[in-house]
Amino acid sequence: MKILALLGSPRKGNSEILLNEASKICNEKNHELILIKPCHLNISGCTACDGCKETGTCIISDDMDKIYPLLKESQRIIIASPIFFFGIPGQFKLLVDRVQCLWYEKYILKKVSPHPLKRKALIMLVGGMKKGEIGITCAEATLKAFLRTIDVREERTLSYLGYDEPEAILKNSSALQEVRKATEELLKDD
Ligand SMILES: Cc1cc2nc3c(=O)[nH]c(=O)nc-3n(C[C@H](O)[C@H](O)[C@H](O)COP(=O)(O)O)c2cc1C
Repeated sequence: MKILALLGSPRKGNSEILLNEASKICNEKNHELILIKPCHLNISGCTACDGCKETGTCIISDDMDKIYPLLKESQRIIIASPIFFFGIPGQFKLLVDRVQCLWYEKYILKKVSPHPLKRKALIMLVGGMKKGEIGITCAEATLKAFLRTIDVREERTLSYLGYDEPEAILKNSSALQEVRKATEELLKDD
């Protein structure tokens, strides 16, 4: 199946380590994995121009042009992101905000999704603060709203707090195993 992996971190660090582990499982099982790093792309912010209101199509042309079809077609979505100021990094939030056109398409224009009920996601979040639960709650809320908008209705979140240095997550002896297990679950057919 087609799997979209979204990497929210602008650095080579903990989120990437977690995502690499999930990717290994996808590759071992011969799935088609497409990796998107929003920080390497040219994505403008939503200007709330309402240019998509009547059509469900964004009028801005940039790297989102190639991401919209992936958001619609992928059967599984894997997200790995750090917490930045109790949310997701700005580069990743630009992508999330740009699904406002799909929000119009779904909730106002009421166009039917090609994958009703069948798509699933795995969210992996890393924060540096030991007591940073609020960051996980806020980032997860944003990502759940994003996933609902693109018609992914089932998700699981793995979160890791107190990991600040780029490879600190490797000190967690069970994290990678947990990611592998969650990825195997994600890939199962219902
Ligand atoms: C701009 C910025 C803001 C941050 N804000 C938070 C925060 O609100 N809560 C938290 O737990 N960690 C915060 N951190 C720490 C990162 O989440 C942490 O270093 C994490 O391991 C980064 O993940 P990465 O290695 O995948 O980039 C922040 C880091 C940066 C650079």
